[in-house]
This record gives sequence, structure tokens and C-alpha cells, in this order.
Amino acid sequence: MANENTLQAIIAHAKEYGFVFPSSEIYDGMGAVYDYGQWGVELKRNVREYWWKWMTQMNEQNIVGIDAAIFMHPTVWKASGHVDNFSDPMIDNKDSKKRYRVDHLIEGYAETLSKEDGEALIAAMEKHIAADDFVGLKTLIETNKIACPISKTVNWTDVRQFNLMFSTEVGSVADEASKIYLRPETAQGIFVNFLNVQKTGRMKIPFGIAQVGKAFRNEIVARGFIFRMREFEQMEMQFFVRPGSQKEWYEYWKTERMKWHSTLGIDPAKYRFHDHIKLAHYADAACDIEYEYPMGFKELEGIHSRTDFDLKNHQELSKKKLQYFDADIDPETGKAYGNYIPYVVETSIGLDRTVLMLMSEAYTEEDLSTEEKQDSRVVLKFIPKLAPVKLAILPLMKKDGLPEVAKALLDECRPHFKCFYEEKDAIGKRYRRMDAIGTPFCVTIDHQTKEDQTVTIRYRDTMVQERIHISAVKDLVLKSL
Ligand code: GAP
Repeated sequence: MANENTLQAIIAHAKEYGFVFPSSEIYDGMGAVYDYGQWGVELKRNVREYWWKWMTQMNEQNIVGIDAAIFMHPTVWKASGHVDNFSDPMIDNKDSKKRYRVDHLIEGYAETLSKEDGEALIAAMEKHIAADDFVGLKTLIETNKIACPISKTVNWTDVRQFNLMFSTEVGSVADEASKIYLRPETAQGIFVNFLNVQKTGRMKIPFGIAQVGKAFRNEIVARGFIFRMREFEQMEMQFFVRPGSQKEWYEYWKTERMKWHSTLGIDPAKYRFHDHIKLAHYADAACDIEYEYPMGFKELEGIHSRTDFDLKNHQELSKKKLQYFDADIDPETGKAYGNYIPYVVETSIGLDRTVLMLMSEAYTEEDLSTEEKQDSRVVLKFIPKLAPVKLAILPLMKKDGLPEVAKALLDECRPHFKCFYEEKDAIGKRYRRMDAIGTPFCVTIDHQTKEDQTVTIRYRDTMVQERIHISAVKDLVLKSL
């Protein structure tokens, strides 16, 4: 169920505990731009590495990675269709001078209606969008009296398309020839390197190329915290296949990506597929994997059958052959498949949206009150392999040789996983701070440790404590990862 309060609580918690800060906060921040703090960066890195390993190491398909530059030749974006097609229908309110994405404006209004009326409105909107019917969209806004949230008036301009790419100039002369774009998707870096990788890696179709990196979009409406950002990170994989086999591979990747999601410990009921009615300019089939965020079901990942659209256009504009010679025998003709431009099935997931999903799942407020006293805690229940810190090592006191024993354990564990060492404050306070950043295990070293080499291990989710031998700590944590 949509719950804006939970989102607000997550945003506040993320800031208070060093996960996500508004960018340039001392200058009052920047819309839809965020910085990751000390724990956010660890969480994000864990997700990135987990995705990378799953794709390029654990996958039964042949997938390799690259890291292409953010700046690309400007013709790339002409060939990809982004210069001409990467735009959203927008509308301006004449009184407030505020600009809105039409779909956001209508969706926002639909949320205020009954379920049935809201769904009918969204369906009508999707029909107009699919038909590029801008007059129909404006009429829909006017007949429903959808007002500007700022001016509260229905005094709208016509609906127009606005390109979402950021541009800048290279070199010292600012003219059209030096205009370049900040990439709006990482995928094009993969397409233009397709032959480089195929030839140098002697890759046989089907094979994939994966990449993780920043992408930039001039999102008009800053909404949903790190859900919709102007600078964000994508984890993308282009899978090159024989023409004609793309539908099969599209289904394969839908299943395969859901398998990855099922390893994150999230209730499957919080995911759903959403098939695209209006296909992007490059696709012959496309769907989103949606997750139920605190603000409702929203797109987390896209799976797109991109045909040969990108490679064909790059071949045409660059005048360089981007073809593959397939020596395998086609059973129908008895001859080699020969030269062709491969088709592509893409999986594309937002790293920041994945982080927001994990934070939404993990964020738990618990009432621990007893008859004697009121008590509560906020705990982030990350699965251990993604938690920013795996183990906190806490000497009960700052004396009697306890820090020395604790530091020896720290030295043993930190080459293997991220640890946190702290001597200050009462042990209860230290536990709560570790709960708040989602550390699954805390170990306390006390005077008994010096006598029998046992420590108290405390489990974050159950808060159960038990004594184990200090030599068993490292393996216990490693086992959970
Ligand atoms: N290469 C295909 C592509 O870029 P997309 O559906 O536009 O497709 C893929 O984007 C994913 O990137 C989305 O599913 C989402 O997770 C993420 N994404 C897109 N725009 C975003 C934004 N403004 N902020 C954060 N993540 C975004």
C-alpha cells in the first residue's frame, strides 16, 4: 500500500545515519540530485558488485563487462534516436510558470481518486500517450480540472515535447560542432564497442556485454527521493542474439532477472511485470519489473527487445560495418547463418532505485516497550551480504586489555568483510546505532573473554545474544554472506 509517511521516514533516516544527503546541502540542495554518505556508498557498492558478479561471473551465459566513457561522439545520440525521440510530453501552468510531465500530473491526480476512477483515468492517459495525441492529453487534464499544485489553477499551455538530454561543449569554442551530451543511458557505450569486444574476446553469439555507470537526464519533476534523479547510475546488459531468436531470449531474461531479485530476500508479491503499451523508439517488446515502493508499484528495471535498431543505425551513420559472421549451420537451409547485424535484448536496472527498494524493505520501526518502560528502535534489516557493515566489534570497556583483544579480532576479520570498531558509550546505545545502519552482527568483548576466549554475539533482527568462542566469529559472519 502506498505510504508517503514511510518514504519521509526513510529519507530522514537515510540522512541522519549517513546513507544519502541532498547534494550541495549547504547551498540548500539541488532538485533531484543526491550524494551518498559513508554507509550509503557501501550499500550501493555491495549492490553493484552483487549485480556484476551475478551477470559476468555466475551467469551460465557468456557475459563480459566494459567501462565506457560518459562523453561520446555526438552522432551516437543521433543514431540512437535520443536527439529526435528522447522527450516527454510536458505542460506549463501559465500562472505559476511551473512545468510538469503530463503523465506525472495525471498520475498524481489519479491517486486522489477512487481505485476504479483512477485506473480509468490512467488507461485513458496511456491511450493518448501511445497515439502521441497531445490535444487529447490536454483535454483530459482540462475536463478533469487537474490543477497546478502551486497556483491551483487550470490555466495550461498546450502539451509539448521536451528533450531530456543535458548538453555541454567540448573544447574552447562554443558552437554547434562542439556540442556534446551527457549520456542518458549507458547502453550506447556497449553498442559502439560491440565489435571491439566481440573480436578481441572472440565472442560467439549469443553473448552479453554488461556495464555499470552514471547516466544523466533532465528530469523536470523531482519526485520520490533517489527514485527519480537527474544524475543516477544504471546497471545494463546488452545480450546479442541471432535475428529471429529475440522473443525467446526476451522471455529468458525476464525469468533470469526475476531469479536475481528472488535472491534479495524480498516477498515475491512485491514485484510485478508491467508490459509496455507504447514501445520506445527502439523496441519490439518491452516490460518493466515493478516493485511496490512506499509510494506504490513503480518501475525498477526495464527488459527491452531492442531489435537491431541501434547497431543498424550506428552502422549507417558511422559507415563502419557492425556485423557478425555466424559460422553455425542453419538447420533449415543447411548453410552457415553468415553475416548479420545481431538483435539485442537488454536488461537495465537503476542502481539508485535498487538502493531505495532495499532501504524500503529493510526499514523497520519496532516497539520494544515492556510494562516497566517505553522503548522502540529503528532497524534496517538488510540481508547480510548487502549490509554496509557486517560486524561491529565492541569492547565493553576502554581498559583492562579489552580493546587489545577486540583489535586483534578486528585485524583477523577486516580483510574478509567490512567491520566497525567502537569503544565509546554504553553497550545498549552502541547496539542501537548498529541497528540503525543495519549491521547484522555485533560482538562484545568483556572480562570473561580474557578468561575463556568467549564473546557475546548479538543478532540484529532477533536481538538474541549468545556466547561463542572468539575463534568462531569470523566463520560465523562469513557463512551468512
Ligand atoms: N537503456 C535503456 C534505458 O535506459 P530506461 O527504462 O529509460 O531504459 C532503465 O531506464 C532504468 O534506469 C529504469 O528502470 C530505472 O531503474 C533507471 N532510471 C531511469 N531514469 C531514472 C532516473 N531519472 N533516476 C533514477 N533511475 C532512473
